[in-house]
Order: sequence, then C-alpha cells, then structure tokens
Amino acid sequence: MWFKSTWTYLLYGLLFGQKVSAIDLQIDDEQSVKDAASQSIYGMMTWYKGNETGQIPGGFPDKWWEGAALFLALLNYWHFTGDDTYNDELSVGLQFQGGPNGDYWTSNYSSFLGNDDQMFWGLAAIQAAESKLPDVSDGHSWLSLAQGVFNDQKNRWDTTKCGGGLRWQAFVYQSGYTMKNSVSNGGFFQLAARLYRYTGDAIYKEWAEKVWDWSASSILMNNKTWVVQDSANMDDDCTTPGRIQWTYNYGVYLGGAAYMYNKTSDDKWLTAVNGLLKTSLQDFFPSKFGGVMQEVTCEPSEQCNNNEVLFKGLFSWWLAYTALLVPTTYDTILPKLETSVQAAAKSCSGLGNNTCGVRWYMSKYDGMNGMEQQIAASNIFSSYLVKYEHSGNGPVTSTTGGDSKSNPNAGAESNTDKNKAKPVTSGDKAGAGILTVIMVASWAGLIAFVLIGG
Ligand SMILES: *[C@@H]1O[C@H](CO)[C@@H](O)[C@H](O)[C@H]1NC(C)=O
Ligand SMILES: *[C@@H]1O[C@H](CO)[C@@H](O)[C@H](O)[C@H]1NC(C)=O
Ligand SMILES: *[C@@H]1O[C@H](CO)[C@@H](O)[C@H](O)[C@H]1NC(C)=O
Ligand SMILES: *[C@@H]1O[C@H](CO)[C@@H](O)[C@H](O)[C@H]1NC(C)=O
Ligand SMILES: *[C@@H]1O[C@H](CO)[C@@H](O)[C@H](O)[C@H]1NC(C)=O
Repeated sequence: MWFKSTWTYLLYGLLFGQKVSAIDLQIDDEQSVKDAASQSIYGMMTWYKGNETGQIPGGFPDKWWEGAALFLALLNYWHFTGDDTYNDELSVGLQFQGGPNGDYWTSNYSSFLGNDDQMFWGLAAIQAAESKLPDVSDGHSWLSLAQGVFNDQKNRWDTTKCGGGLRWQAFVYQSGYTMKNSVSNGGFFQLAARLYRYTGDAIYKEWAEKVWDWSASSILMNNKTWVVQDSANMDDDCTTPGRIQWTYNYGVYLGGAAYMYNKTSDDKWLTAVNGLLKTSLQDFFPSKFGGVMQEVTCEPSEQCNNNEVLFKGLFSWWLAYTALLVPTTYDTILPKLETSVQAAAKSCSGLGNNTCGVRWYMSKYDGMNGMEQQIAASNIFSSYLVKYEHSGNGPVTSTTGGDSKSNPNAGAESNTDKNKAKPVTSGDKAGAGILTVIMVASWAGLIAFVLIGG
C-alpha cells in the first residue's frame, strides 16, 4: 500500500541517507492519518503468524483473547480507512476461532477461558457484521457467531450470589470463578446492545437492560457518580469492590450505552453515555501529562502487563463509536482523541521503523515494544479518522445494509457439556496454581483414605 507520505518518507530517506524513524502525522490531513494507521497496523501484522503454514488461524495459544483485540483493530482500521489489505487474514482467523459450535468456546483454551475472553471474540464477530465483512460461504455467519456467544453467556448468568451477574471466569478450578467483574458484565451488556441494534429482536434488548440494571444495582457501576469499579468478590456477596481503575471497564459500558441510545433514543441511555464519558474523560486524560490518554493505574509506574497495554486501544475505539452513534458527544470526544493521537504518533518512533511504545504521554518511544503496543496505537490512529467519517457512515444494521445471516439458536446447544470442568493443560498461572492446590489436596485425601481405610 503506497500512500503520499510513504513517498515523502522515502524521499527524505534518500536525501538525508537515513531512515526517518517517526510517524509524520498531520492531523488536518486525512491521508496522513490513514498513513499513520497503515504503518502501525503493518507493524501489528508482523506479529501475526496465523496465516503461515502449520499455524492455527487466529490462534494465540498463550494469550487467546488478544487475537480478538487484533481482529478488532483490523476491523476498526478497515472501517475507517477502507484499506482491505488484511481482510483475508481477518476473515479466515475470525471464522476459524469460532470453533465447531460457532461460539468461540473451545477446549483448547479451557485452562484460562473467561467470560471476558469469549466476549471480546463475540464483539469482533458483531463488529464484522456491522462493518459488512462478507459472511463466508461454508461457515458460521458473523452475526450467528455473536449470537452464539450471547446464548452461552445468557445461560451462564449466575444468581447464586450478588443477585445476578456473570462470573469472571467460567470453570470452578479458576481463581476468577468466584468473582463478578465489570468487563465481563459490561461486555455482555454491550454485545446484547449491539445485537439488539443490529437485529431489532426484543430478547437482546431485554438482556441489555437486565445486565445494565444489575450492574447499576451492584457495586460495579454507580449510576450517580458514574464510577466503574473493576470487580467484586462473591465470598462477601459482592459488597467490597476491587477499585482499580481501567479504561476498558468504562469503555464497555459506554459503548453499550451508545448503541442503546442510537437504537432507542431513550434519555436513560443518553444520561448514561454523558455520565460515563464525563468520568472517563476526567480520569484517563490527566492534565499533568498533557491531557494524553493514559492507563493511569499502570503507566506512570511502568507496570502494565500485556493485557493492560491493550486497554487504551479498546477505549479509543469505543470513544470513536460513541462519537458516531451519539453525535452530540462528537465535539467532546474529538479533542481528546486529537491530543492523544499526536502523542501516540511520537511514541511510534522506535527501532528505526516506527515501532510504537506503551506510554503515549511521553511523546517519544519508551523502549517497550510488542504486538499489544501496535494494536493499541493502530486503534488510536484509526479511531481519530472518525473526524473524516462522512455523516451516517456508522455501523450498519439488518435494515440499513447489513446482511449477515441470523441464527438465534447459535452456540447454546452443547453449552451444558462445555461448562463441565476440563483438565488444565497449560497457561493461566492463577488458575493453574489453584488447580495444583486442589490436586495436592485430593491426592492427600486419597492417600489418607487408602491408608486409613485400608
Ligand atoms: C522493527 O525492527 C525490529 C528490530 O530490528 C524488528 O524486530 C521488527 O520486526 C521491525 N518491525 C517492523 C514493523 O518492521
Ligand atoms: C500472511 O499475511 C501477511 C500480511 O499480514 C502477508 O504479508 C504474508 O505474505 C502472509 N503469509 C502467507 C503465507 O500467506
Ligand atoms: C485446537 O488445537 C488443535 C491442536 O493443536 C488444533 O489442531 C486446532 O486447530 C485448535 N483449534 C483452535 C480453534 O484453535
Ligand atoms: C440507578 O440504578 C438503580 C438500580 O438499578 C435504579 O433503581 C435507578 O432507577 C437508577 N437510576 C437512574 C437515574 O437510572
Ligand atoms: C445513530 O447513528 C448514526 C450513525 O451511525 C447517526 O447518523 C444517527 O444520528 C444516530 N442516531 C441517534 C438517535 O443519535
């Protein structure tokens, strides 16, 4: 893909005999922003091996949910730039990971599968439908894959404690099994909201409202202060919040509320959008750091793990979609994206080839590269292109040009079987740790039984 500034870049290189190692971003030039997105997505795809011989399409064995984040970045990129260079990899990988049941729930990853992991793949599937990625002829439609995730999660709604909610993780041997968290519930809410907007089917509205109302009645989300907490523990009936602040917890609820507002024009959702926007814009764009988007919990202390590096990218994407779906928020959101995209461009100046760092607010490469950094930066570049989105070009629905096939019964059938605990094979440290304890305990029990009983 050759863009205008690619030529400038090469010319500069020829003239000065060196590689220019910074993304040259002119925010008032649409093409320049597209070029920046293109460079950063190219860097992202150098980490993707799923289209090579012997590799699993869309597979990321140790960090499976990040595949969903990568495909979401590709969808976001394609939506805003129109560049379909990577759509083959996108379509093949997103389809393959749906698995035989078409619900992104495969035993390969059962050692660490959480409701949130599955949910992100579900969001990628609905986004494919909303972006009119053509359904594949011999597989599951994008819409049905999202419906499959929805059906599974609906069946996992848990009323044993805390008055409802999804658990964080889905299997009893996982440490997150006894927690209810915002991203799982907010994500399920957003998935239901998007399915409702796309299909118009009442069941999705019912569930979007149910998950929202439960969240607002729990300590996870406060519908007066609009603070979103991270998690709650079922051991004390969800009375003590895990207060760590993350952009994506706000983003999932915000994005879902934006879809609900767009579909219903109900003031309830506009209040929610404005409330969540207000707190998240206050908290995650600290003026002390130039008003640049920041994962405040981990960036200043340089403690972000791979997951956490991705959150800002997801948040950027939800902000852009909120600006599209609730046009009155555009003027508030755009300046925030603008400050951040300029800083991000400067952070993408590493290793002599525009590699991006973690901390955009540093306005230079901070020495920490990775697939996650490339995904996050790609998302801020693509999202800023909302500025050039010609009005009305938002996510489609089944009545505005979307033709992904519906299957309201997708996924759910073998759900009960799939919910049975399976042995851990690899992966999740916390989950594996807990399992070891249980196994040691049961071996001890068995030996005691044999010794005493025998
Ligand atoms: C950038 O350079 C580094 C170090 O040489 C290399 O590992 C990486 O693959 C390069 N990235 C791109 C996008 O070319
Ligand atoms: C895999 O996709 C990349 C684009 O990200 C492309 O450059 C590469 O040629 C593809 N490899 C194969 C084996 O198709
Ligand atoms: C699950 O793992 C098997 C064995 O490595 C592999 O053949 C299969 O493609 C994987 N499935 C998915 C959905 O990743
Ligand atoms: C806030 O949430 C509670 C609990 O769901 C609900 O009773 C109340 O009506 C909500 N308030 C507003 C303003 O939506
Ligand atoms: C819904 O979103 C579209 C863009 O996709 C926008 O044109 C329209 O005005 C929005 N509707 C409402 C009620 O805000």
